[in-house]
Amino acid sequence: MSNEEAHWIVLKFGGTSVSSLENWKNIVSVIKQRRAEGYRVCMVHSALSGISDKLEELIERAPENETGELVQEVKNRHYELGEALEVPVDELLADDFSELEHMVKGMELIGEASYRVQARLLAMGELMATKLGAAYVRRELGTGAWIDARDCIRTETLKDVSERSLILAAVSATDEDASVRERLDAAGDLVVTQGFIGSDENGKTVVLGRGGSDVSAAYFAAKIGADRLEIWTDVPGLFSANPQTVPSARLLNHLSYKEAQEIATNGAEVLHPRSILPARKHHIPIHVRCTQRPELSGTVISDESSDDAALVKTIAVRKDVVLISMESLGMWQQVGFLAEVFEVFRQYGLSIDLISTSESNVTVSLDPGLNSHFHDVRKLFVEELSGLCRVKVIESVSAVSLLGRRIRTILHQLGGAFEVFEEQKVYLVNQAANDLNFTFVVENEQAERLVRQLHDHIITQSGNQQSFGLTWPELMGEQEKDVRDQQPWWKEKQEQLLDLVERSGTSYVYDTDTLKKYAAMIESIDPVDYRLYAMKANANPEVLRTFRELGFGFECVSIGEVRRVLELFPDIDRGEILFTPNFAPRTEYGEALELGVNLTLDNIYPLREWPALFEDEELFLRIDPGHGHGHHKHVKTGGMHSKFGIPRFEIEEVAERVEELNITVRGLHAHIGSGIKDPYSWKRTAIILHEVAEELGGVDILDLGGGFGIRENETEAHLDVQEVASSLEQFREAHPGYELWVEPGRFLVAVAGVLLTRVTQLKGKGQVKYVGVDTGMNSFIRPALYGARHTIVNLSRLDEPNSQSVNIVGPICESGDKLGIDRLFPHAGEGDVVLVANTGAYGQVMSSNYNLRPPAGEIVI
Ligand code: LLP
Repeated sequence: MSNEEAHWIVLKFGGTSVSSLENWKNIVSVIKQRRAEGYRVCMVHSALSGISDKLEELIERAPENETGELVQEVKNRHYELGEALEVPVDELLADDFSELEHMVKGMELIGEASYRVQARLLAMGELMATKLGAAYVRRELGTGAWIDARDCIRTETLKDVSERSLILAAVSATDEDASVRERLDAAGDLVVTQGFIGSDENGKTVVLGRGGSDVSAAYFAAKIGADRLEIWTDVPGLFSANPQTVPSARLLNHLSYKEAQEIATNGAEVLHPRSILPARKHHIPIHVRCTQRPELSGTVISDESSDDAALVKTIAVRKDVVLISMESLGMWQQVGFLAEVFEVFRQYGLSIDLISTSESNVTVSLDPGLNSHFHDVRKLFVEELSGLCRVKVIESVSAVSLLGRRIRTILHQLGGAFEVFEEQKVYLVNQAANDLNFTFVVENEQAERLVRQLHDHIITQSGNQQSFGLTWPELMGEQEKDVRDQQPWWKEKQEQLLDLVERSGTSYVYDTDTLKKYAAMIESIDPVDYRLYAMKANANPEVLRTFRELGFGFECVSIGEVRRVLELFPDIDRGEILFTPNFAPRTEYGEALELGVNLTLDNIYPLREWPALFEDEELFLRIDPGHGHGHHKHVKTGGMHSKFGIPRFEIEEVAERVEELNITVRGLHAHIGSGIKDPYSWKRTAIILHEVAEELGGVDILDLGGGFGIRENETEAHLDVQEVASSLEQFREAHPGYELWVEPGRFLVAVAGVLLTRVTQLKGKGQVKYVGVDTGMNSFIRPALYGARHTIVNLSRLDEPNSQSVNIVGPICESGDKLGIDRLFPHAGEGDVVLVANTGAYGQVMSSNYNLRPPAGEIVI
């Protein structure tokens, strides 16, 4: 193909991409490849990373003569890269450096920087960087022309636009422009030019606003009719959520322009939202790719409508959104009222993003990106608006958006996902008219957690392999961060488990490796000083031995549990046992004190009625923090309606009696419930215990209880253990000096256990099909008691497709005897082994001989 016929392609490289020799080697090899494919290459690049920030700082500081080392720092960055690339910096940049110094002096003298001067100064970053880049490319490839983008990107003088925007956030036309194409054609088949900058109709320098290099590249592509626009950055494409917050986020292989626009507008920082329109107008595909990993194919954005099944493609967040809530004074029905309200927004130049209305309230959100001046005008604006309605400004909230297409058609499927809102205050819900976006506004602190949970429910569980690519760790070759995302242990041990049932019959099986993995997760909660295993969850001796070896203490709820620990580990230090009885008979307290284990009182009654028992003793007190939490009302153990703990209004009397009896309160304890997924729960408990400790004085230990939730089936969310750790770290920093204890049960053992049972009979009653197994609520009562929904599989037929929806039921004489209802299952046969997963906690310990059917035994592997 001769050069005359060759087609142009635009490659844009961001700041990080152009800041190291390593990346430049990749850049050159990409350019080589494209040229080998027959393309002419227009390379658009940004300033070196961090330089635009420094230039902005110069503008801010110059009027006060505070530029100090800044100019030198800017120069040094270019020297460093120049040296690495082995290009002559002084020769290439001498003029720019002196211009930069002159401009800074000028600003210092005049005491201000006009928009014009600001634009010229900001443009220096791109001008300098591209001169180094072009020199390197020329040396490596023997060709490459440096072009001044200001000769190509002419910006428009729009009416009704402020001078500031015309100069610092300029826009250009998106039509093809023969003059630009001719200029590039004349320069050869490889040009290097700047992003971010252009010139206005008088030829003066302007810039396109932060992130403007993407936009420049799109303008170039549109103007020269490029075949493709490649945006090279430091991430491998657009993802189904921000991979930093959601490690299981998946690469989006393909997006339509509309979807990409929605994603870019709603907070994905990979691609500037304004860069999509020019490409879309000319049907130029955009490829988003990673400079560090050029072999990855990234995300392709094009006309081709993706007819894949996934409708929700991304869950995005915008932080620090501002809400304006307007409460009616009975005027909503009046004609023209809303017009008056919105006129006030217009006057103050505030652009509204989301709106939600009810009979008496209209709440709108302001996008921080477009309303940076809100804080300057806030007072006047609120005053004026208050003339029309009652106004409340709500800050520190985030907009969490489900983005995709035809979202309306799938809302009903999202039912399960919406359970995550049980614990959230939702300020605003909005469904965009274009049906691409469904948004919730929640507190900043809750946003990331909500994104993780929604992602887990909607994307991870969708099982859709077509629309979603690999995760970031998979792409970048990093380790999976969390053992909980690995495939379940029982899949790998399928043969061994089938064998065990063959030999031992229906059984619980516990996997020691998995116990250890979950223990390690609890151990990773750094601010916690000591961990006890709440043995009520699973009292199997082998399991107890494992936790003993790992250095866990034991939390016991009955004297029977205390005795079992002492039988198994006669040499155990008594201080490693905490006995936390509730309404136990007096004798158990006496025995515990004699044995010398830590004892917790959770009622004032023993102090009032059996004072002599506790004189001169050391005790823990279980406090009711006033609220409970958990997966089911039966397991919420705090608040007025729960029988546990000393209420705070009795603390004064407790303090008096403690004093009288010369009791030392060594620790305070609280356990508000079980199966908690809110990571801030333990911090909240700590704060309350700390308040009580201050009242009592002399307390060393705060035991924050157990309750750490797990995923009983794949549609549920994980507890964010790291968030538990960081919130406790905050507590610890604010209130050093306490030892923090926790006492998880379920989290440590649940996932390591499975119940294996065998199919006895099959039945079909019309639509309802039953798979009968040889044990039921006598072995595992959680589904009957709490409606728990555990993963259930046919272990004998793991590879067979699901063909029907069935109820899995046991042989007990109650209709509640169900292990699982409405489960997708392969066709089953008598004798197949059915596995009920995540049953290591509160499984065998809650089993019974009901109907004189002995429950499943236990095997530890
Ligand atoms: N500490 C105390 C004082 C407790 O009462 C409990 C559990 C724990 C710690 C451990 O909680 P975990 O970390 O396991 O959530 N049978 C119910 C759970 C009852 C929990 C009772 N107390 C279920 O199957 O969900």
